[in-house]
Parts: sequence; structure tokens; C-alpha cells
Amino acid sequence: MRKHRLRLVVAVAAVLVAAGAGTASPAQAHDTQSTLADLAERHGRYFGSATDNPELTDTAYTAVLGSEFDMITPGNGMKWYASEPEPGVFDWSAGDEIADLARRDHQRLRAHTLVWHNQLPGWLTDREWTADELRAVLKRHILTEVRHYRGKVYSWDVVNEAFNEDGTYRETLWYKTLGPGYIADALRWAHQADPHAKLYLNDYNIEAVGPKSDAYYRLAQDLRAQGVPLHGIGLQAHLALQYGYPATLEDNLRRFSRLGLDTALTEVDVRMPLPADAEKLAEQADWYRDLTAACLAVRRCVGITVWDWTDKYSWIPAFFPGEGAALPWDEEFRPKPAYAAIRQAFGER
Ligand code: G3I
Repeated sequence: MRKHRLRLVVAVAAVLVAAGAGTASPAQAHDTQSTLADLAERHGRYFGSATDNPELTDTAYTAVLGSEFDMITPGNGMKWYASEPEPGVFDWSAGDEIADLARRDHQRLRAHTLVWHNQLPGWLTDREWTADELRAVLKRHILTEVRHYRGKVYSWDVVNEAFNEDGTYRETLWYKTLGPGYIADALRWAHQADPHAKLYLNDYNIEAVGPKSDAYYRLAQDLRAQGVPLHGIGLQAHLALQYGYPATLEDNLRRFSRLGLDTALTEVDVRMPLPADAEKLAEQADWYRDLTAACLAVRRCVGITVWDWTDKYSWIPAFFPGEGAALPWDEEFRPKPAYAAIRQAFGER
């Protein structure tokens, strides 16, 4: 805990210098307080943030990233297009930069992601594969990447976004060519390459009990029954004020716990139609408070990761035009009401 506080003093100084500010500083609100990581650790949890390589030149940004969080996740740097851009040619530069940063800042690493249908290199998507060929390609990718990061990774998002909203399998390259067994295979290969990493399935819109989270529940039951190495379910939690809060989140987390699995909120943000105003920010704060409390209420919910910490680097405005303001800090790195609400959920006044 002390480690975080010391680093926070450095972070505050860096932000002050970067802001050139003599008056109110973005970080001043919490320069004498414990960090989110400290607060989470008191509850046996972690509090993490995604990050991405281009942002790492922003020293005011990395100061907060390195002090406030005890877990980081590469938003893009370990995805297939980055790590195996040509067949059998691996490029670790982006992923290593984030892994090195985590080590420097004494943080753990949620590695993301091995098997997905997005951000695949052209060599993989621009041709037809037989099942045998694709299986061999997938196996090589997983074994090589997981081995490369062995010993540096707390958990891997092994398979990402495998289901449709109605709970049927998403018709990805993997599913269409290999059938549903690709998920168990991927988990087994990842476990072979790093027996100590916690292996997760990860998806969005599975925060509430419903057809999509039911599909994960059934799959997790099956995989556990077959002895497949699955350790956790990642609920991304890309929430939006206009769609309502997932009121059954806590029940949902609890049912996965009862299967003997960890759960984590892995990509949290709460977007809103812009412009933000006090009322929307207050509702957003309530949601951050509630989702933090839901995780704390379920013993095997191991931690929370926000999908970056500042609106400056959020993915939302580019993907949902007219929406944004989704993270606990604004674009100028000022803590928003959501930041205080998270602290409150951890029991701080
Ligand atoms: O690297 C190129 C760059 O060369 C080019 O100049 C630039 C121009 O647009 O694009 C860059 O690629 C972007 C890439 O992020 C890296 O910055 C892509 O356009 C952009 O689409 C891509 O977005 C990422 C998105 O996944 C892709 O689906 C987001 O940053 C990343 O935060 C987001 O993360 C996903 C999780 O992996 C899974 N869950 C959902 C989550 C949000 O979509």
C-alpha cells in the first residue's frame, strides 16, 4: 500500500508539472489519499486499467496509470494483428512495452486476447483454411504467445466474444472452421504454455442474467465437467446510461462463483449521450458505485478493470459518435463524480 502512496506523490508532481499549473491540479483531489489499488487491496481485490502503446508518451498519463492501479491490460498490443502480423513471424514490441511497464510499476498484467474475430491479420482472414490447417495455426499462435509472456501474466483472456446476443455461437472464422471445440482446445493449449496463468473467457453484454450470460454459464459447466482448464469469466461491462443498469449483475457473478470460477469486470466504462451534464455524471457515478459494490459482494469477483482511466483515451467517441465521457477521469485528468463513487464503494468517506 505504501508503495502506491509513494508513487502517487511522484504522479501528482508529474501531473502538476505537465499541467504547468500553480492553482488547482487535476490530481490534487487525491494527492493525500490512498489509491484505487490501495482501496481494492484492502478488500483482496485489484483495480486495473487498460492502456495502449500510443498513449505511453504522455508522461502525465503514465504517472497516474503507474500509481493509481495495480493491474494493467494492453488494449491492443497483444492482439493477433500486433503479435503475429505474418504467419509464424511474431512481433512482441507492443506487448512487451506494456509488460515492461507493468513490471516497472509493480503491477500485474491481464493479458488480452488470444482468440477473437476482430483485429486479425490479413493473412489469416483473406483465405480459406481447412480445419487441420487452422487448428495448427491457432495452436502455434497460442503456444508461442503464451510461452513468450509466461511468468509475467496474471490472467489471459483466452477466447473473446464467442457468443451472439441470443446465446448461439458467433459464426467466427474459428467456429465456422473448427466447431465449438476450439474453445476447449484454446484453453488447453494456453494452460500447457503457462500453467500458472488464470484462463478466462471474456465478453460484453453478459453482466446481467440473460441468454448470452446463460450460454457462458452452460459452457463453463460443460468445460469444468470435462476438466478443461477454465478459471474465470470476464464480464467486460461496457455499459451505457441509455440502456439501463444490469440489475442482476451481483446474482450473475454469484452463480459463476458457485461453479468454482473467478469472475472479473474486465473492460468497464459507462458511456452517455454527449454533452455530459451534472445529472448524467451523477447517474454514471451511481453505476460505478453499484458495480464496484456488486464485485465486492461476491467473494470470487477478483477485481475491476476500467477500459482506460481517462476520457482522453477512451475508445467510445470513435465507435459511438455522439457518445462518450465514459471513464472516471475526464479528458483533462480531473476525477469525475464516478471516481469518488468508486472510493465510496470501497468504504472510504
Ligand atoms: O493501428 C491503426 C493505425 O495505424 C491507424 O492510423 C489508425 C486509424 O484509425 O487505426 C489504428 O488501429 C486502431 C486500433 O484500435 C489501434 O489503435 C483501429 O482503427 C481501431 O478500430 C482499434 O480499436 C480497438 C478496438 O478494440 C477494435 O475492435 C480499441 O482501441 C480497443 O480499445 C478495443 O478493445 C475492445 C476489446 O479488445 C474487446 N472488447 C471490446 C473493446 C472495445 O471495442
